[in-house]
Amino acid sequence: MANRSLRAPKGTFDLLPPHSEAVLAVREAMGEQVRLAGYGYIETPAFEDTALFVRGVGASTDVVTKEMYSFTSKGGDELTLRPEGTASVMRAVLEAGLANGPLPLKLWYSGSFYRYERPQAGRYRHFSQVGAEALGSNDPALDAELIITAVDIYRSLGLRQVRLLLNSLGDGTDRPAYRDALVTFLDALDLDEATRARARINPLRVLDDKRESVQQQLVDAPLMPDFLSSPNREHYDTVRMLLADAGVSWEEAPRLVRGLDYYTRTAFEFVHDGLGAQSAIGGGGRYDGLAESLGGPSVPAVGWALGVDRTLLAMQAEDVVMAGAASVDVFAVPIGAAAARKAFAIVLELRRAGVRADLAVDGRGLKGAMKAADRSGAALTVVIGDRDLEQQQAQVKTMSTGDQIAVPLDRVVDDVLTALSRAASGGNKQ
Ligand code: HAM
Repeated sequence: MANRSLRAPKGTFDLLPPHSEAVLAVREAMGEQVRLAGYGYIETPAFEDTALFVRGVGASTDVVTKEMYSFTSKGGDELTLRPEGTASVMRAVLEAGLANGPLPLKLWYSGSFYRYERPQAGRYRHFSQVGAEALGSNDPALDAELIITAVDIYRSLGLRQVRLLLNSLGDGTDRPAYRDALVTFLDALDLDEATRARARINPLRVLDDKRESVQQQLVDAPLMPDFLSSPNREHYDTVRMLLADAGVSWEEAPRLVRGLDYYTRTAFEFVHDGLGAQSAIGGGGRYDGLAESLGGPSVPAVGWALGVDRTLLAMQAEDVVMAGAASVDVFAVPIGAAAARKAFAIVLELRRAGVRADLAVDGRGLKGAMKAADRSGAALTVVIGDRDLEQQQAQVKTMSTGDQIAVPLDRVVDDVLTALSRAASGGNKQ
């Protein structure tokens, strides 16, 4: 077979500059807000025992039945690339015995996740999430805190068209009665055999069926909020009170069921209407029973994950531009080998002084090197030509004005530092 050039696997993509800078900036903005709320950083492995997700996420979910990248290791272990982060965080917390220490534990993470989904705009097989989880507390203040933090993240990124969908899914105390009512209702409908089978395993998921023919029949379906026990209603009311106090608006979404089985009580999703079918840019909720389904003690918890890729698509849809970080502040343009050696030293010294600096390489001529300087976004260019070198000087050019001044070589670094700090403090005079 002829040698074919290799490509990134289907449903994956490379992040390349300058777009990759925007991705980093979004992750950093997300991390900054969660740190403000006292969340500490956690990192877990990119693969786990398959059983973690089967038990944690739920054996009948699409994620587990259709979307996992599972494999047997050379040593015979059954492993899976993580499709989500919550089960891993809970596993790590239980394993380290942190649930026995001071609570709540507030943790956040940022990383890659893997789902074998049908790729389309905004839906990838390898994607990026930032997540936050508060473990070891029933307090609705944590549900509200997390939701508000996500709202603040989207705001800080300049997004204005994010809608918050909110529901309460109840728990073991009230969901069985709801489930029975829903099963009775679904039994009387005209559904195909596959949907009926789904209804038997997880009737709530039928509410999420996107087909018009199904949705039409669900108009009068019983809804979970009408079945909430009084403690669960009170919990939900407090979450909503705190959101209202914080000026956060939401839409009641009594049919919102999430795609993962561990949710109890508060469940929410952030959607953006500029994204077409894959409109969920983040989601989460409470998962008070997850620790027990992993064989641990009771550790009530709540959290969310925000999709970094979809958040960027939402920003593009709203024409929000991240303050385009120029790649460097200073660019050196040496003409000739001797100047190149001098420029190399100056650039190193600037970098060591904390200035982002770069230089033209490959012995490029003045014209090509100045083009590279332009492209770099540098505020200042240091040109060292043959004659400059004879006179032990360099030309320092301010790119925005085109002004150029000759500076003795042994003062270039100091002068550049002064000019940059003047520019940073708002002055623009040399
Ligand atoms: P999730 O709703 O499955 O929740 O995913 C969260 C977000 O990740 C989605 O809203 C979406 O933005 C993004 N996402 C999911 N799948 C893809 C994909 N194939 N391509 C691109 N983006 C995607 C969870 O993962 C839960 N662990 C959230 C959570 C944390 N619940 C409690 N704590």
